Amino acid sequence: APILRILGIETSCDETAAAVVERDAEGVPTVRSDVVLSQLEEHSAYGGVVPEIAARAHVEALDTLIDEALKRANVSLSDIDAIAATSGPGLIGGLLVGLMTGKAIAKASGKPLYAVNHLEGHALTARLTDGLSFPYLMLLVSGGHTQLILVRGVGEYERWGTTIDDALGEAFDKTAKLLSLPYPGGPAVERAAKSGNPQRFKFPRPLVGEAKLNFSFSGLKTAVRQAATEIAPLTDQDVADICASFQDAVSRTLKDRIGRGLERFKALYPDVEQPALVVAGGVAANLVVRGTLQALCDKNRFRFVAPPLHLCTDNAVMIAWAGLERMATGVAPDDLDVQPRSRW
Ligand code: KG4
Ligand code: ZN
Repeated sequence: APILRILGIETSCDETAAAVVERDAEGVPTVRSDVVLSQLEEHSAYGGVVPEIAARAHVEALDTLIDEALKRANVSLSDIDAIAATSGPGLIGGLLVGLMTGKAIAKASGKPLYAVNHLEGHALTARLTDGLSFPYLMLLVSGGHTQLILVRGVGEYERWGTTIDDALGEAFDKTAKLLSLPYPGGPAVERAAKSGNPQRFKFPRPLVGEAKLNFSFSGLKTAVRQAATEIAPLTDQDVADICASFQDAVSRTLKDRIGRGLERFKALYPDVEQPALVVAGGVAANLVVRGTLQALCDKNRFRFVAPPLHLCTDNAVMIAWAGLERMATGVAPDDLDVQPRSRW
């Protein structure tokens, strides 16, 4: 059987990305190119992603990035079997840019188009990086999402938990902003926390103990604001202590929520020999979060899978790979009138 080769396009948030990925008959992937342009600088002055700026930046960068991805892969468009473009969820302006470009290339070249769900891209990445087999659990913790997903197969996902308010990355970003730390907040909070006392503040651990596996982080942010207001003006040590205490609360929340998820998985699949928890999203870079998840997996005899960070955060390789997985499973491509779905 021939090698399948696909061009992936990702524009759902503040990364413009294009990639060429292959899959051989045995299912073994090869990443031929992986190009990502971060818009971090465009947004940092605003302390968050500005949708209008993001959409315009995608328009400016995408064509060049696709050319670059093809060039680095040493292929031309005629060597590509299909195009995969993110069509949701995400910021509608960016989704329109990426999906329209994907459609245009598909139309002009006569190649099939796969409209890929961004979350499916995150969910299937561990099969590309670690050859994981179904079923497994995936925790996505990014600036936009906090979800625990059961991955049963290509196109077969069950959402076990999601945030009822802020995403975890958002909670890091908002906490940083309250403490006048730079954007993006996650790395800044992690850095400050290193010299802090995690026991100084008893921040809430929302939903801990609840049977439903949802998350909630807006109360935590409010508690940080209260603490910061009460002891203002803040010394560097105060900031460090707040950050350390914040991470401690996050860590305890994850331990409870994900711990229950692992138990539920084991009850559902007692025969899976080596169950696995995959982590994805920018917050997966956090060493306290990682350590918590690793310890939890060790205790429950789960394999802890953390793909390399550049494939954990937004990229087009995962979109290309999701398209390849669908092709290989025999899923029909999408019609060219497929529409982007911001809240897919
Ligand atoms: O996956 P990602 O790069 O982009 C999307 O959200 O789509 O995730 C970005 C998020 C931001 O909220 C950022 O603050 C957070 O991941 N983040 C971190 C760390 N590095 C990035 N959060 C905690 N600790 C970190 N070291
Ligand atoms: Zn993402």
